[in-house]
This record gives sequence, structure tokens and C-alpha cells, in this order.
Amino acid sequence: MAVRTRLGLTATSAVLALSLAACGGEGAGGSGGAGSGGGAEDLTIGVSMPTQTSERWIADGNNVKEQLEAEGYSVDLQYAGDDIPTQSQQIDQMITEGADILVIAAIDGTALAGQLENAASNDIPVIAYDRLIRDSENVNFYVTFDNFAVGVAQGTALLTGLGVLNADGSAGTATGPFNIELFAGSLDDNNAFFFFNGAMSVLQPKIDDGTLVVKSNQTDIEQAAILRWQQETAQRRMEDLLTSTYNDGSRVDGVLSPYDGISRGIITALQNAGYGPTLDAANPMPIVTGQDAEIASVKLIADGVQSSTIFKDTRLLAEQAVAAAAAFAEGNEPEANDTETYDNGVKVVPSYLLPVETVFADNIQSVLVDSGYWTAEEVASGQSD
Ligand code: GAL
Repeated sequence: MAVRTRLGLTATSAVLALSLAACGGEGAGGSGGAGSGGGAEDLTIGVSMPTQTSERWIADGNNVKEQLEAEGYSVDLQYAGDDIPTQSQQIDQMITEGADILVIAAIDGTALAGQLENAASNDIPVIAYDRLIRDSENVNFYVTFDNFAVGVAQGTALLTGLGVLNADGSAGTATGPFNIELFAGSLDDNNAFFFFNGAMSVLQPKIDDGTLVVKSNQTDIEQAAILRWQQETAQRRMEDLLTSTYNDGSRVDGVLSPYDGISRGIITALQNAGYGPTLDAANPMPIVTGQDAEIASVKLIADGVQSSTIFKDTRLLAEQAVAAAAAFAEGNEPEANDTETYDNGVKVVPSYLLPVETVFADNIQSVLVDSGYWTAEEVASGQSD
């Protein structure tokens, strides 16, 4: 990939002089992206985040900004309020104002091709953050988690919560049949497909052998999807499912949920319908999964309401974004650990994937508190400091 950057134009360091000499004094450009470099203090990184309605994106924005600033970069961090035109306009403005590198978590992964065209014609490398940007040649790198593995972990956590599997992955004693319902993320987010497909790779065999029954028959991702991952939309869909499918005295035993905000909407609908309030109540809460280890949901897990979540350490994701930006700043290619999985419709985007961990009530302390992600006080209160 020939990443031409305009970084070299602002660079003054001796390192740059050497690298310029090494590539024939042509400066930035040419194949391999060599020839740029320069002090971080000369460079501005535009960081475009989707929304502040979810605490994970606030933490992501803060982590990326703090870590970039610690390296000496200037940072232009913007949140787009989950509004696509706002995000497009913020990115255009970052380019106009001279951003040298862009880090973007897209609201709609298919809606930014124009902005990326603009970035490319200004020789600005683009790093897709957590969500793949689709349908564009001009995505230079992708930092994310192993999103298929997230889905596998969610499906496995549902089976574990139901007792079909034991915690160590061996077969459990429960055989069902269990009534479950399926929720998926926003269809304009590439991740939603990876999560759903990963989960179904685990659940489908159990549906086929009769252990699990999707009583509503809504098994397509289009039927399960929740636009913009919104809690209220998820609550409404769960209410509709309860009315349409469970008004005959039958009960829901488990719900596959791809994200903690969606889980909270599902839990509210279930509790309003008389389930719970906890997993060991007389009319127990169904097993509800999640993702992101949001603090409100970690408390629900600690309180025995939600069964599990998937922890993605966004501090490490921010580190990878900073490492990728630094590589581009030095005229290098960031180091990928996956060059096959993330085809954005135009090309396979070189990626760095981070691992994920499943959290149940019994490992909140070891996974989330001992790592310093949340304090014990935050878990107890359900609020971040
Ligand atoms: C996805 C992300 C998830 C979750 C979701 C809703 O793109 O991978 O971790 O945060 O968006 O915000």
C-alpha cells in the first residue's frame, strides 16, 4: 500500500533528514510511505467519535486523546451525536483545519467515502477505530477487537448461563428446550454482522438439535437488528416480543444481546413484564448477555440481574490507535496482525485485533477491578467517577 502522507512537509527532525536522504530526497510519497516523520508536536490528529450517549465512546475518546497528547500530538476530538451529517461535516472540518492523521469510529460505516476521498487527496492517512469504514479504498488501517470472537463469546455465555455448558466449556447438565430471543446491533455497523455470525456459529447447532427454540421465529439479523444500538428501541422490541409470542403462559429463558445498552432495554422490558428482578427470583430473569462492560451493566451483573458481558479493554484499543498513528507519522506502515478478515467491499483493510474476555458475576473483581478498569466503588454504585 502506498500511503503518501503530507507529514513530511511539516517535519524538521534529523530523523527526517536521514529518511529523506535514504529515499532519494523526494520527501513524503512514493511507495511504502517512507520519507515522512517529524516531531509529534508538529502534528494534529483528528479523532472522530460517534456518540456520547454511551460511556464506552466517551472513554474511548478520552483514552485516545490523553495517550496522543502524552506523545506530544495535538488532538482535535469531536463527537457526532449519532448523526451522520454531523460526523461528515466534522471530518471535513478536521481536514480543512489541517489534520495530519484521522482516527474515525464511524456511525454509519458506509457513509464516509466522500470524506475519505477528501482525506486521501490531502494525503491524510485514515485509521478506522473499532468499526470498519466500508466501500472506500482510502482506509489505511483498522484497529479493533476480534469481533467474531466477541460473538462466539456471547453465544457461549448464553449457553453457560442456561447451564447447557459449564464454565470450563464442557457439556452441562441442562438440556432444555429453552426459549430464547435474538438481538443484533445496528445494520450500518459492520461489527453487528461479526457479533451475530459469531454468536450464531455457537447457537445454531443448539437450535438445530432442539436445545434452544427461538419462539418468535425471528432468526434473521434484519429482524433482530436495533438501529444505532439504542436502548429504547431494544426495550420496545422486547416488549413487542413478549406481547406477540409469550402471552400464552410460556416464558423467555434467554436473550442474546450484543451490547450492554441494548441489554438494559431488554432487562427493563422483562422486569416490567414481571420477570426477576434477579436471576434467582421465583420468576427468574432470563439469561441476558451483553458487551462493553459498561458500569451500569457491571452493577446489574454484580446484583444478579444481567448474566454476562464481554469486556473489551478500550485502553488497549486506544494504545493501538496511537501506535498506528505514530507509525504513519514516521512514514511507516502500522503493524497488522490480521490481513484477511476485514474486507470493506473494496479492499481488505490491514487490521490489528485485540482479544476479549467474558465477564460473569464471579470474575468482575479479577477482570475489571484488579485491572483498574473500574474501581470496586464504581461497581457498587453503577456509576463512573
Ligand atoms: C460497536 C462496538 C460495540 C458497541 C456498539 C455500540 O461498534 O464494537 O463494542 O460499543 O458499537 O456502541
